[in-house]
Amino acid sequence: MRVLVTGGLGFIGSAVIRHLVADTDHEVLNLDKHTYAATSGSVAAVAASDRYHHEEADIADGVAVADILARFRPDAVVHLAAESHVDRSIDGPGEFIRTNVVGTYELLQAARDHAESRWVLDRLRFVHVSTDEVFGSLGAGDKPFDPSTPYDPRSPYSASKAAADHLARAWFETYGLPTMVTNCSNNYGPFHFPEKLIPLMIIKALAGEPLPVYGDGSNVRDWLYVDDHAAALVAVLESGTPGRTYTIGGNAERSNLEVVQAVCDLVDAAVGDEVGGRRSLISFVEDRPGHDWRYAIDASGITEELGWRPSVGFEQGLARTVDWYLANEWWWRPLTELRYQGQRLGTARVG
Ligand SMILES: NC(=O)c1ccc[n+]([C@@H]2O[C@H](COP(=O)([O-])OP(=O)(O)OC[C@H]3O[C@@H](n4cnc5c(N)ncnc54)[C@H](O)[C@@H]3O)[C@@H](O)[C@H]2O)c1
Repeated sequence: MRVLVTGGLGFIGSAVIRHLVADTDHEVLNLDKHTYAATSGSVAAVAASDRYHHEEADIADGVAVADILARFRPDAVVHLAAESHVDRSIDGPGEFIRTNVVGTYELLQAARDHAESRWVLDRLRFVHVSTDEVFGSLGAGDKPFDPSTPYDPRSPYSASKAAADHLARAWFETYGLPTMVTNCSNNYGPFHFPEKLIPLMIIKALAGEPLPVYGDGSNVRDWLYVDDHAAALVAVLESGTPGRTYTIGGNAERSNLEVVQAVCDLVDAAVGDEVGGRRSLISFVEDRPGHDWRYAIDASGITEELGWRPSVGFEQGLARTVDWYLANEWWWRPLTELRYQGQRLGTARVG
């Protein structure tokens, strides 16, 4: 297949591209605007392959996107390009609406134009990658999200992703564009931008800096190792059913405090300090406005239909991730010096 991946210089998109180029025969075009969240180092391992191509473009630029589709003629689109950080969406929602909503619209329209013949339409697959955050916040005893869970987004980020999901489904129902929507839980692993919880805590713990935990740290997320997510997306791409939604998760619910404590202990062990010492760096800070309390995923649908299940347990994946950050300072150090210095984001609130 000729696969167009949007957002392939980001955390998950780059994992998808590394997997596609290294483990399949597909031809890949990476369409990415190269925002603050993008790094070419994340695809360096496969960039020399003659099956890897790259175009710098903005998905909200309909003319540019149509031109790229006309030249590359994809059999499949895996759409990951997005503004992805909830805290930034609180400070500046406009870019989230532009990229996540308008950008998805432009991409769907361009795919529709590209699929003008029945032959292309029948072959085409459009995987729209979304998040579990569109379903809102669960209580302790609520059942995990599945594809039938009603939408209830509560942050500018999740609202923009929810809007995009609705567009993807509408383009299937109305125009017959073979879209599939995936809603995934929190990912973690290598090449994760240092503004997100796990890399931020690893880097601050290494430096012996205070570890800011929002609220009382009881918020629960279901953690999925990024390579497992990449494998799930390729399974949906190759064998998924157009029009369907797939919920993807790691069966690994942990509170933020548990995650940060585990990071502390792994960093202690890795640098030869007494295990437990870094837990004293944990400091509780004012909560995120509108902070969803719990997300959890029921991934039985994708397991039953496509045979996918997570292969990396949370403790194993977290240890792997800490080791990766220790060994790959060349990747994250310039980001912390030039793009994001670890400051608090997302506190804007009226009243
Ligand atoms: N990170 C998670 O835990 C998680 C969980 C579930 C779903 N998702 C979804 O997965 C996708 C990828 O997330 P991520 O964590 O890899 O994000 P990321 O922020 O690491 O990467 C996003 C990429 O998109 C590119 N991009 C942004 N705006 C663009 C535009 N207008 N045109 C073209 N490219 C643009 C950026 O340059 C960057 O390379 C997103 O759609 C996100 O909503 C993420």
